[in-house]
Amino acid sequence: MIYLDNAATTRKKPAAVYKAMLKTALLGGGNAGRGNGVLSLGAVRVIIETQEAAAELFGIEDESSIVFTQNATYALNMAILGTLKPNDHMLATVMDHNSVLRPAVRHGNYSIAGADSIGYVSPAAVRRRITDKTALVACTHVSNVCGTVQPVKEIAKAAHAGGAMFLLDCSQSAGSADIKVNDIGADMIACPGHKGLMGPMGTGILYIKEPERVEAVITGGTGSESESMAQPGAMPDKFHCGTMNIPAIAGLREGIRFILKEGAESIGAHEKELADEFRLNLMDMGGIIVYGRGDSGITAFNINGLESSETARMLGDEFAVRAGYHCAPLAHRALGSANGGSVRVSFGYFNTKRDMKRITDAVMRILKERK
Ligand code: ALA
Repeated sequence: MIYLDNAATTRKKPAAVYKAMLKTALLGGGNAGRGNGVLSLGAVRVIIETQEAAAELFGIEDESSIVFTQNATYALNMAILGTLKPNDHMLATVMDHNSVLRPAVRHGNYSIAGADSIGYVSPAAVRRRITDKTALVACTHVSNVCGTVQPVKEIAKAAHAGGAMFLLDCSQSAGSADIKVNDIGADMIACPGHKGLMGPMGTGILYIKEPERVEAVITGGTGSESESMAQPGAMPDKFHCGTMNIPAIAGLREGIRFILKEGAESIGAHEKELADEFRLNLMDMGGIIVYGRGDSGITAFNINGLESSETARMLGDEFAVRAGYHCAPLAHRALGSANGGSVRVSFGYFNTKRDMKRITDAVMRILKERK
């Protein structure tokens, strides 16, 4: 099977990720912050080392401002619902995932900036919708539907000019692009650990530059200030409630170290090179609609007259791709694929030119069968 669904999760991980998880599960096993013994301290060390690796990757000065979550969805909910006060307004974009849109809907007072037909959100569209009540602007870095890269630096500037915080959803770019929080102007970033960062499922990252501006949505045992019923304010305890998944975080640490060694930009360039050629191949075939602008390793397309789910079915078990709406319903309205969604091929670090040629041939075969 050729795995081409790296935007959903990276299936193959570097060997060091599995080894670290196994070693931590077998030889670790202590609960971080719940005891003074070597096992508990070892678990704390895993968290700190992973924070240090993430801080290096994202150019974060204070690693204690990084917290680990179950996935990007949890991180985004914690950031959005923890920041907004009842009368605050939030601005999101049509290219955002439901993990941004649904918390915005839950908050109630929100607006959505539009995008053009290639899925690009112009900074002007964001500026227009910022009001004196806007406390938070959120935007995806790279569309999970079509791979379009957003002008996030300019969007961050617009947010700050309006007095709002900027939350960057880097679910599709972490591990495939050089992301430095201060360079972009991100007050918070959220991403999964199990996609481009090569960690295991059940891991996510939330960075909060000014933790005092964000309430903890989840409260409970942190292993610190146990004598008090109030949630501690110290980082990362404020957002680390309950028992942390230490073996998974150890795996994430190794995933991030792998990215640091290989270079996120160079990984992104490899993915984009495969996607660029695949995109050109699709355009050459005729009878295929290709969405987006070809900015990253993600390609979205439809065969004329064929439902995306039907194309995925015809690709069979030989290829893992994703069809449908990809949890981003508004993006499809902008792109013109609201009637059935699109087929998504997302290349990753471990994909080769041969994989790209095989999926090209398979799409070509489907086209021929239909003639
Ligand atoms: N959000 C992930 C995707 O786009 C799971 O497939």
